[in-house]
Amino acid sequence: MADERLIAALDFHTMEDVQKLVAELGDSVSYYKVGMELFYSVGAPVVTWLRQQGKDVFLDLKLHDIPNTAAGGICSLMRLGATMLNVHASGGYTMMKTAVDRMHAEADKMGIKCPKLIAVTVLTSINQEDWEGLGQAIQIKSAVVRYAKLAKKAGLDGVVASAQEAALIREACGDDFLIVTPGIRPAGSDTNDQSRVVTPAEALSNGASHLVVGRPIYAADNPVLAAENIIKEMENVK
Ligand code: C5P
Repeated sequence: MADERLIAALDFHTMEDVQKLVAELGDSVSYYKVGMELFYSVGAPVVTWLRQQGKDVFLDLKLHDIPNTAAGGICSLMRLGATMLNVHASGGYTMMKTAVDRMHAEADKMGIKCPKLIAVTVLTSINQEDWEGLGQAIQIKSAVVRYAKLAKKAGLDGVVASAQEAALIREACGDDFLIVTPGIRPAGSDTNDQSRVVTPAEALSNGASHLVVGRPIYAADNPVLAAENIIKEMENVK
């Protein structure tokens, strides 16, 4: 049975690939992530189709613009029926607060369930050299916690972060805060291009609320077995 803490990434660019994987995984997975590659090629119909299949959708489009524009974008995406949306925390407190306030007001007006809004802290691909090149003087880890606290203060539901930072964020932001973590690899599997990986059980123990898993499921010889093994490992950590 599905574990709603597991979000399978649909890193494809065609509807056929999406339908094939979702059909294959059936009831094993109930939550999917649609990112830029898929959304920019297929568009809104992929969200509508997933919702029709009864699936939850994390629309990972990482909005970053002036407050009025980001808030308008979030409201448009909300109308598609996504379960969770995100913006970059580096867009600032005012942008995050405007987006979340407008999203709540619009959901009330429409009489629909409001999606969750989370913030990307510091991209996990940013290394120390990139960071210093941006003129940043504080430690990346300190910035991650600072951005997470700012997202919470703005009224957002949580953050996307590395599972290695999840414990610090959990400590700073409390229990009632979503921490969505990519970079997950079951013990013994290929790390691909991810450099800082943790196992599903480690991520949950560190305080993650949701795990985003891409290649370990969709590129597996047997995706159903791969998902079920991950769920089994997750069940040992409540
Ligand atoms: O295949 P893999 O499990 O590495 O995929 C992880 C997914 O999470 C991909 O869709 C990737 O774009 C996304 N992601 C990530 N690191 C981030 C944010 C998102 O790997 N910091």
